[in-house]
Amino acid sequence: MDTKNVNHRVTVKDFARMKALHEPIVMCTAYDFHSARLVDEAGIDSILIGDSMGMTMMGYDSTVPVTLDDILFSTRIVSRTSHHAFVVADMPFMSFQVSYEEGMRNASRLVKEGGAQAVKLEGATDLTLELIGGLSEAGIPVVAHLGLTPQSVNTFGGYFSQGRTMEPALRLMQEALEVEKAGACAVVLECIPAELATRITASLSIPSIGIGAGIGCDGQVQVFHDLMGLGTFQPKHAKRYAHAEEIAADALGRFLSETKAGEFPGEEQSTHLAPDVEQSIEELRK
Ligand code: KIV
Repeated sequence: MDTKNVNHRVTVKDFARMKALHEPIVMCTAYDFHSARLVDEAGIDSILIGDSMGMTMMGYDSTVPVTLDDILFSTRIVSRTSHHAFVVADMPFMSFQVSYEEGMRNASRLVKEGGAQAVKLEGATDLTLELIGGLSEAGIPVVAHLGLTPQSVNTFGGYFSQGRTMEPALRLMQEALEVEKAGACAVVLECIPAELATRITASLSIPSIGIGAGIGCDGQVQVFHDLMGLGTFQPKHAKRYAHAEEIAADALGRFLSETKAGEFPGEEQSTHLAPDVEQSIEELRK
């Protein structure tokens, strides 16, 4: 199956095939109609409705406040808009950490009501592993997420790369094997050393999708706003492929100055009365 064909909906089977063929999997976040349309039409393999929306769309300084309703709202839009990409919805903080039943119910809402094809869960606690198994058995593919798991920012004490010393590196290798064994269809590896990500990737039969994890992963994920250069903060792992911030600032500045100067709207943006209607209106006023 040709996944570059934008008329073909990428599935979990394509992920497995791409890993086997060493074809890099490309994933990008999207949260609204235009970002989803652009990502999908570009032929990108997978869209993540990430809880990064907390920072990129909602003005929070972390992903912690994002709710299931926030993700559900965006997931409906993205799945309605996209025709090609494999749609993965993030399970936000505390939507799956309270109990197995609540995790199952919340994940099922993202698929049944939101239209996602898979969900993503951070971490590898016993409960998370149990949920990965339960959801996979119930027919909901799960993308695991290890390394820098931003929902744990308050435990980490900031956003630091993970797995840089022996013990944490070995723990991450172990966790990767555990999420695979539990039934995950892929695993996001965030902000870990490239050598470690390469080793983890080689030890797994499911694809790894890296962000700040080097070139040795089976795929790469980036945040839409980082790629576009929208926003003033640029994480080290992000590459700006466009400079949308400058373009938007320039457009807004010109709108402001042209309007203040009485130059906007021009003829192109205006409509006029037919001469006979204008004449009749003038006569009415007399
Ligand atoms: O929320 C998100 O966008 C993510 C990616 C950075 C992997 O989890």
